[in-house]
Amino acid sequence: TTHHLLLNNSVKIPRLGLGTFRSKGEEVKSAILWALRSGYSQVDTASVYKNEVEIGQALKDSGIPRENIFVTSKVSPYEQGFDNALEAVCQILERLGTEYLDLCLIHWPGAAKLELRSEKNKELRHETWKALEKLYLEKKCRAIGVSNFTQQHLECLLSSGCVVKPSVNQVEMHPYLIQKPLRDFCRHNEILLQAYSPLGVGSLLADPVVCEIASSRQRTPAQILLRWGLQHNVVVLPKSVKKDRIVENAAIFDFVLSNEEMARLDSLDCSHHFCWSPDGVL
Ligand code: A2P
Repeated sequence: TTHHLLLNNSVKIPRLGLGTFRSKGEEVKSAILWALRSGYSQVDTASVYKNEVEIGQALKDSGIPRENIFVTSKVSPYEQGFDNALEAVCQILERLGTEYLDLCLIHWPGAAKLELRSEKNKELRHETWKALEKLYLEKKCRAIGVSNFTQQHLECLLSSGCVVKPSVNQVEMHPYLIQKPLRDFCRHNEILLQAYSPLGVGSLLADPVVCEIASSRQRTPAQILLRWGLQHNVVVLPKSVKKDRIVENAAIFDFVLSNEEMARLDSLDCSHHFCWSPDGVL
């Protein structure tokens, strides 16, 4: 359907998912339940978010069959390396109370406690990748991928003789960081992009161009930003813990931005990261 895209291994992925960075405790539980009731079927978490136990409980409480929900988590920089990553995913599954992940990502190209320019980063993330390949072949993960990888990090992984190619690269993306070269590279290599912080951590909601398009369309700024992402063929992962906003952020499948509106939004690009730039990691 139009609400899904296909990964390079033919696994279906919803075009919209709920982001949960900084969502914790009871707040994240209610957010997940509201999201699942308002049409989301994808939840994005990570070992470092420290909310997997609550998310697992909410997934159970929802009563929705596990196979109808797409769950992503990520191996943290503290868990890099072959054995560490295997153990980390084991613990992720336990915390989430699930037998498998739909998507498991390497959270960050660098490993904790290493210099950015250390050669060891590369070694460790390639070992981590071998662990994810093993988990994929054992069907503990329906798809595997990476996050915050630059083109160089991807080229390096692809040329390392990996057995399984990454299905996804999850990166920060919004009209101030349109990621054009990385998107082209990923499309060329059949790697789907997932956009985190598609609202620029909320900062783009007040942008005058975004607001002008929103008012002319009788839509909210958030809906314009998310629709922009969808029309660039990426998966959007807006984060909210507020019911009204969660509902608002899902109402993005019943309108289309014109080429001119898309171009105006694209022209806001200033390569600005609100989160972290992975450029310096060797
Ligand atoms: P909250 O969780 O309190 O709703 P991003 O996904 O780009 O990282 O943006 C997340 C930030 O934007 C959070 O601070 C979130 O706050 C806020 N936010 C999410 N959706 C909306 C919305 N529709 N309108 C206004 N703020 C929003």
